[in-house]
Amino acid sequence: MSAPVIEIRDLHKSFGALEVLKGVDLAAPRGHVVALIGSSGSGKSTLLRCCNLLEDSQQGEIRFEGEAVRWRGEGAGRHPADRAQVIRIRTNLAMVFQSFNLWSHMSVLQNVMEAPLTVLRQPRAEVEARARALLAKVGIAEKADAWPAMLSGGQQQRAAIARALCMEPKALLFDEPTSALDPELEQEVVRVIRALAEEGRTMIIVTHDMKLAADLADHVVFLHQGRIEEEGPPATLFGSPRSERLRQFLSATAG
Ligand SMILES: Nc1ncnc2c1ncn2[C@@H]1O[C@H](COP(=O)(O)OP(=O)(O)O)[C@@H](O)[C@H]1O
Ligand SMILES: [Mg+2]
Repeated sequence: MSAPVIEIRDLHKSFGALEVLKGVDLAAPRGHVVALIGSSGSGKSTLLRCCNLLEDSQQGEIRFEGEAVRWRGEGAGRHPADRAQVIRIRTNLAMVFQSFNLWSHMSVLQNVMEAPLTVLRQPRAEVEARARALLAKVGIAEKADAWPAMLSGGQQQRAAIARALCMEPKALLFDEPTSALDPELEQEVVRVIRALAEEGRTMIIVTHDMKLAADLADHVVFLHQGRIEEEGPPATLFGSPRSERLRQFLSATAG
């Protein structure tokens, strides 16, 4: 068994005096889909951002393919020690945000090509061929030369997914990828995410969509006030939740 793509142990994260993550363990084995659920403010986005080192954390271990993140300093003064390692990890854990975060001054194709060109310094012709193939894969090949503002939300999110894939990451991290979308546009993004799961991509998906979590995830983690309150296979978590908090959460989100 190879090491999980991402593995986190006993992670603690505070913003000033506010402790947001209070000792969280999380692992995304290769080819698995992990769904992260929980109320607003429970720390889901923060956990995802700690995974790819967009946020510092004060305590606990983060491993990428078995390789431990090296730190200097301690507690509030703890930071990653090795810049090259941070870039390697971050580029291998591509993130897709709720609000798409496309660069508005670049065409869709330029958005997809930008990081492989500037961060990975790959040859332009190779990157462009891959970018166009990925835009076709997510169903928006004809939008390559459009500005993001000309696209629907669902198309923008699919462009953002193509952009993440163009980095050829080891895992994809989705932060509520469908929350900003109308139901019909939501489905076109769900279809793309489902296809990625079926390809065996490693993914962590923060979602409010319990149906999506139940359908796609191998493992579901319920975060409550910065702690894992319950986790397990979707059939167990959604079918026979043990925790009263999870039961309350599920009945509140049932639509
Ligand atoms: N940059 C920040 N500075 C201060 N507090 C933050 C910051 N980001 C998040 N928080 C706080 O951390 C808690 C968890 O937030 P978040 O991880 O965004 O939760 P979720 O994604 O589950 O809704 C919330 O109380 C939020 O207000
Ligand atoms: Mg969030």
